[in-house]
Amino acid sequence: METQTLRPDDQGFARARDILRDGGLVAFPTETVYGLGADACNSTAVAKIYEAKERPSFNPLIIHVANLEIAQRFANFGTLALQLADAFWPGPLTIVAPLKPDAGLSSLVTAGLDTVAIRVPAHPISQMLLASFDGAIAAPSANPSGSISPTRAAHVRDGLDGRIDAVLNGGKCDVGVESTIVMPSGDTCYLLRSGGVPAEDIQALIGNQLAVQSNSDAPRSPGQLESHYAPNARLRTDVSIPNDDEHMIGFGDIEGQLNLSASGNLVEAAANLFDYLHMADEDAATLGKKKIAIAPIPMQGLGVAINDRLKRASAPRS
Ligand code: TXA
Ligand code: MG
Repeated sequence: METQTLRPDDQGFARARDILRDGGLVAFPTETVYGLGADACNSTAVAKIYEAKERPSFNPLIIHVANLEIAQRFANFGTLALQLADAFWPGPLTIVAPLKPDAGLSSLVTAGLDTVAIRVPAHPISQMLLASFDGAIAAPSANPSGSISPTRAAHVRDGLDGRIDAVLNGGKCDVGVESTIVMPSGDTCYLLRSGGVPAEDIQALIGNQLAVQSNSDAPRSPGQLESHYAPNARLRTDVSIPNDDEHMIGFGDIEGQLNLSASGNLVEAAANLFDYLHMADEDAATLGKKKIAIAPIPMQGLGVAINDRLKRASAPRS
C-alpha cells in the first residue's frame, strides 16, 4: 500500500475520516507522540494496528475521544475519575475506567478486559480529526514494535511507510513522552505509567490518594483483577480433534463450534479472538463442558500475537 501524507486542512481531515470509517489506519499527531489510529469499534481495523506495528502480543490500547461526554459513552466515570478528567482533559492523561460492555468498542482494544483506557488529547489536529470522525480512535504510538515513539511525521514514515494508509502531518509533538496512565478505584488512584502529566500535579489535585502501582508498560490492575483476560474454562491449544468435554474453536479447515477465520485469514482471526473466547466460555458453561480447545494458528504475521495470547490464557492458574 502507498502511505499518503495528509495536510491538516479540510481536505486532509476529510480523507483521514474516510480512511478511518473504511477501516484503515491513519497516523496523527497528539501533544505526546504520533498515534497510529483506527476506528476503535471496528475489530478488523484494530487488528491492522497490530499487523502494521508487528506487535508480538496484544496489549490493550488507549482510545482517543473528543471530550468527557463521549468518553462516558464508553466507560463509567466515578467521582475520582470525573475529578481527574475535569482537571487534566484535554491533555496527556489517560484514565482507565470500567467499560460499558454494550457501547460497541472492539474487544481487541481492551484485549478482553472489562476496563478501558481513555484519553482526550489536547493537540488541535487530534481534536479536529476526532471532531470529523465523531467516534473513538484506538491509537498506540505510531512506530514498529520495539522502536522508539515518533514525534514527527517523518519518524512515522521511517518506521511504517507502506504499512499504513496515511499520516496527518502536524509537525513536532511538544510533550515527546507518552501520556500518564492512571486507574481510579474507589478512593485510590493507581499510577500505571508515568508520562506527560507529572505525578506531583495529580498528587496536588487529589492529595495522598495516588498509589504507585507499576511503572512498567504492562497493564496492571489492583487487587484481585487479572492483568490479562483469560477464560474461566481451561484452554487447550494446537488441537485438531477435540475431546468430548471440549468446546472447539476452529481455524481455517479445522472446524469447531466457532471458527476464528474459515478462510485462514489471520487479521480476521485476531479481530474475532477475544469475542470468540468470551462466547466459547459462555457456551462451554451452558453445555457443561469444562474446556475450550483451539485449532493450531500459524506462527506468522498476527499469528504470533494470537499464539502469545493463547499461551498466556492456557497457562496453569496460580
Ligand atoms: O501518549 C499516549 O498515550 C500515546 C498517544 C498516541 O496517545 N498512546 C499510547 O498508547 O501510548 P499505547 O497503546 O502504546 O499505550 C497503551 C498502554 C498499554 O501499555 C497498557 O499497559 C495501558 O495503556 N492500558 C491500556 N488499556 C488498559 C487497561 N484497560 N488497563 C490497564 N492498562 C491499560
Ligand atoms: Mg508505544
